[in-house]
Amino acid sequence: MLLRFRRTARAEQDPDIPAVPSIVFFGGKGGVGKTTMAAAHALHLADRGLRTLLLSTDPAHSLGDVLAMPLGDTAVQVGENLWVREPDADAALRRRVRRIGDDAARALPREILPAVSRHLDHAAAGPGMAESALADLLMGTMEEVPDVWDRLVVDSAPTGHLMRLLHLPELLTPWVEGLARQRERAVDADRFAIGVIGGTQERTDDPLLERLHARRRELERAAARLREDAEVRLVLVPRRMVLAETDRAAKELADTGFSLGTVVVNQVPADVDPGVIGDVRARFAEQGTVEAPLTGREPIGPDALRDLLTHLA
Ligand SMILES: Nc1ncnc2c1ncn2[C@@H]1O[C@H](COP(=O)(O)OP(=O)(O)OP(=O)(O)O)[C@@H](O)[C@H]1O
Ligand SMILES: [Mg+2]
Repeated sequence: MLLRFRRTARAEQDPDIPAVPSIVFFGGKGGVGKTTMAAAHALHLADRGLRTLLLSTDPAHSLGDVLAMPLGDTAVQVGENLWVREPDADAALRRRVRRIGDDAARALPREILPAVSRHLDHAAAGPGMAESALADLLMGTMEEVPDVWDRLVVDSAPTGHLMRLLHLPELLTPWVEGLARQRERAVDADRFAIGVIGGTQERTDDPLLERLHARRRELERAAARLREDAEVRLVLVPRRMVLAETDRAAKELADTGFSLGTVVVNQVPADVDPGVIGDVRARFAEQGTVEAPLTGREPIGPDALRDLLTHLA
């Protein structure tokens, strides 16, 4: 049973570290400062001694730009407790298509495999596939929390992508269940045939079926953990149109069972419209808001990001 907002062993020993969810997503409209805030938050956690992975699930990665560091497909250690990864979406997609193709080849009747293969080629070239391959990779990474990482901070692509990312485990489950049913039928038919010709009917475990069941369990775990052990921190700038979109995103997240964390109001100008900022605070009073000023210089690099956090109101 997963505990809501479980505290990891390390955090448990430190009374100064509040009970926060171990997985935090930064989401919001394009350009509001998701990547900046995700990087700043990850630095903050790492500075407090938590082994933190900052992961980009935006196919147009920009963590390297925000941190001013070269990053890559595998996690790069950038500080004592901080690792950052910008996964190669195309490589993740190729691995994923290969795996689905292998599963299909072993689970489905041979005569429909050419059609399945054509379908996979089409699907792989289709829109959203890179994002869904990254979502798959995210699920794998979530399994490493808390054993490998105390905290996982996820920088995501703008709102629509984040919604698809969060819903992917439920969307994939029927496909995996369908494959498992097909495979079960094939295994039963083999057993029947062996019985008819007088062979032994000992029950042998089928490795593919086990893999499909394991995959289904992984998807179910991911769907549960995304709701029980993660939160989404929405970032917005104090403008009416951005507030309207953030409001819709917040409703959809709440309606589908996700937890909303503190809302970050970013790039607040000194002469902010008091009506807009008042509405933002009122709308998200339940979650609480923090406000970051619009700085004269873009906050790029760890020092500037840490500095931005000290100005959070
Ligand atoms: N508080 C701030 N003051 C000034 N500039 C900021 C602030 N926060 C972010 N920026 C700048 O705003 C731009 C967008 O920031 P960032 O890339 O973090 O946004 P994003 O929401 O991740 O964008 P995208 O939707 O493209 O992923 C960058 O140039 C960043 O340096
Ligand atoms: Mg970004």
